[in-house]
Amino acid sequence: VIADTLSALRKYGWDIIEPNEGHLACGSEGKGRMAEPEEIAEYIDNFFNKKKDLSGLNVLVTAGPTREALDPVRFITNHSSGKMGYAIAKAALARGANVTLVSGPVDITPPSGADTVNVTSAQDMYDAVMQKKDSQDIFIMAAAVADYTPADYSDQKIKKKDDDLSLALQRTKDILKEVGHSKRAGQVVCGFAMETEDLKANATKKLETKKADIIAANTISSDNTGFGHDTNQLTLITKDNITELPVMSKDECADKLLDEITRSFLS
Ligand code: CTP
Repeated sequence: VIADTLSALRKYGWDIIEPNEGHLACGSEGKGRMAEPEEIAEYIDNFFNKKKDLSGLNVLVTAGPTREALDPVRFITNHSSGKMGYAIAKAALARGANVTLVSGPVDITPPSGADTVNVTSAQDMYDAVMQKKDSQDIFIMAAAVADYTPADYSDQKIKKKDDDLSLALQRTKDILKEVGHSKRAGQVVCGFAMETEDLKANATKKLETKKADIIAANTISSDNTGFGHDTNQLTLITKDNITELPVMSKDECADKLLDEITRSFLS
């Protein structure tokens, strides 16, 4: 009943400040703790005082991992939690954008107000993005899309044998590259890069090969950045600028990224 009520409220355009997870007064663990007063205050402050500099613009965000099925019970995936992409979608909504969120399978609730398209595989994500491509002003590709997918899908569960097993994998379509190479004048394309070495050089190369306008590069080499964490450390790379941001919450990262996009490409 509560879920139905909340989804009806969201449908009518109400914002919901979600409860937190943890120890509950009734003695069990789970989602149901009142949001901290600071979180409620921050939410309200953002809602009423945020600059609406993306007002009327269509922003498409990809988020989360993809799942590449081998057979009906197995798939290949990665550790992406979707938190970075969802934070960007939320921040863009707060700044007045119409947001399409193309999301792989994640455990977090999509921000109210976003047009969320749930997908599973890299091919599904490609199809969803291509369908919405022409009407977008800004693309932010935060998804960790699988680069390879099993070459053959088995309709039946693959049975084990005594021998080892090798899997043939084939390349998936590069969504960012496709969007970058086919963008029309005025469309802004942002990609992400997760690098473990030579971050700036590798990310700058991605800017060129994928014809992106900006790359948000991050590493997995520190304790408080990357997959699953609530904080991240981004280096924003355009053809003119390299801006190294400090470690901050993914919500703050999202706002800094949108600041850079508006400053460099929309003013
Ligand atoms: N991306 C995409 N479609 C793919 C693969 C990646 O849109 N099939 C996007 C991601 O969303 C991200 C960026 O491309 O914005 C990451 O680039 P990618 O080449 O996948 O980086 P890595 O996987 O780190 O590649 P490499 O192995 O070349 O470092």
